[in-house]
Amino acid sequence: MKKKIVTLAHYYTIPEVQNIADRVGDSLDLAIYAKETDADVIVFAGVKFMAETAKIINPKAKVILPDMGSTCSLVTMTDINKLKAWRMEYKDHVHVAYINSSAEHKALADWVVTSRNVVDIITHLHSEGKRVIYSPDRNMGAYLNFEYGFNMPLWSAVCEVHDKFNEEALLDITSKIKDKSHYLISHPESPLPVLKQSTYIGSTFGLLNWVKNYDKEPNAVILVATEDGILYNMKQARPELDIRQAPIYKGCQCNSCPYMKLNTVDAVKKAQNEESGVVIDYLSDEIMADAIIPINRMLGFKHTA
Ligand code: 13P
Ligand code: SF4
Repeated sequence: MKKKIVTLAHYYTIPEVQNIADRVGDSLDLAIYAKETDADVIVFAGVKFMAETAKIINPKAKVILPDMGSTCSLVTMTDINKLKAWRMEYKDHVHVAYINSSAEHKALADWVVTSRNVVDIITHLHSEGKRVIYSPDRNMGAYLNFEYGFNMPLWSAVCEVHDKFNEEALLDITSKIKDKSHYLISHPESPLPVLKQSTYIGSTFGLLNWVKNYDKEPNAVILVATEDGILYNMKQARPELDIRQAPIYKGCQCNSCPYMKLNTVDAVKKAQNEESGVVIDYLSDEIMADAIIPINRMLGFKHTA
């Protein structure tokens, strides 16, 4: 029987890759899809932590990451031994780990979250009287502490793309938009001073929905503080709107994730033909067994909002 092969692409991949994918989405949507698919092979046009998550929740499938270099700075900045020591300092806390983390990191955690459900899940834990530590994204953690008063001890790694957004470059751009309104919408991996300027803060799914449902001044400028790939989806959804990348420094709107962009059409097609790419077959049974627990907690969590 012919093998069933599905290709999943994150919003940050290039349009040509999105166009040859069976599913395009944010990290939560792609994880749910990966869990539910009956495909024999999942080609994951995203980054390594996404492909590893797919393998953990669908161990029967062969999961292929098109390019072995597709990592994430939140993963590479986190030393697992130091993380273990940090976790031991807070034995009586619940450890919530952002999905942008290695399989070993997830295996240490009590819950995994994505930027779409992080607020609901930590709010729920707080309502049960639990104290929470959050890793690895320092910017997202600082935002959650500021906005929701969670007071969580934080691990300190950043997304190298979002961490470059800054208030000064934003003010420089917005001071030049004189005769119309402007709105800034941002991913919570951005630094707190940028998030404080934002009309809306959310996951890639949330940001895209905000644009889809936009009903304010038709000629306003919408500045988007996240990776540039999703501008394609936003402009497809609302071609009449003036949607622009937020600047990272004066004059530069180069918000590209080098790891996501390794998913070239050629690399994805070769992975679809099982000719190249990394097969995610190296995770130990122990890591898989430990990591699936916090991931399944997240997937089983019922949203209240
Ligand atoms: P989302 O979960 O919002 O898709 O974000 C993934 C990511 O890598 C953001 O940089
Ligand atoms: Fe990681 Fe940032 Fe790239 Fe997302 S955009 S995959 S957080 S480096």
